[in-house]
Amino acid sequence: QQPVRIAPSILSADFAALGQEIAAVTAAGADWIHVDVMDGHFVPNLTIGPMVVKALRKHSALPFDVHLMITPVDPLVPAYAEAGADVISFHPEAGPHVHRTIQLIKGLGKKAGLVLNPATPLAAVEPVLGDLDLVLVMSVNPGFGGQAFIDSQLAKIAALRKAIDALGKPIALEVDGGVNAETAKRCIVAGADVLVAGTAVFGGGPARYADNIKALRS
Ligand code: DX5
Ligand code: ZN
Repeated sequence: QQPVRIAPSILSADFAALGQEIAAVTAAGADWIHVDVMDGHFVPNLTIGPMVVKALRKHSALPFDVHLMITPVDPLVPAYAEAGADVISFHPEAGPHVHRTIQLIKGLGKKAGLVLNPATPLAAVEPVLGDLDLVLVMSVNPGFGGQAFIDSQLAKIAALRKAIDALGKPIALEVDGGVNAETAKRCIVAGADVLVAGTAVFGGGPARYADNIKALRS
């Protein structure tokens, strides 16, 4: 388990000022920028295309953690890689060949992550765990910010922590959805080392970002 990294989800930022928002959370102490990509098909919302990611790239030097909620996923992976993604994560339900998609991402020189929805079992990641750079546990159903943390996912986080430690590889364990100062603590205790937060970072506006990030970290 690495020191906790905070990845603000720009889904909760002001979309009319995304460049400034990214610069502001960078200055406020964020570790990664989490970009939620939704296709209106795999999830019931439509968000950020590769052109937007490319335009945002120059507004922060932090790693871009791109969470793809799109199906089929393979055809768009190269575009997000070229746009400046550093970590590219996808859902096992988003294509028929999970191992192939991981190799596609890594072949483009990017870090690969697999995302488990609340009802997706741990077993979906086990055969490929050693090929991954990151596992992302969804603690809400993907599609929207501001939803309540689903407590049952803590057991999955703890089981993944054991599996990762048993492998002995530096695989990041990330949690996404309903993370606030209180649930963050429980995620860290369960073994998470990257926390995604939308509402809990962007709530209250730019003057609050540094304190909000600090509260999640401690
Ligand atoms: C949900 C997204 C999350 C979301 C988190 O589909 O993957 O990244 O923005 O938002 P909060 O932190 O508000 O639950
Ligand atoms: Zn996300």
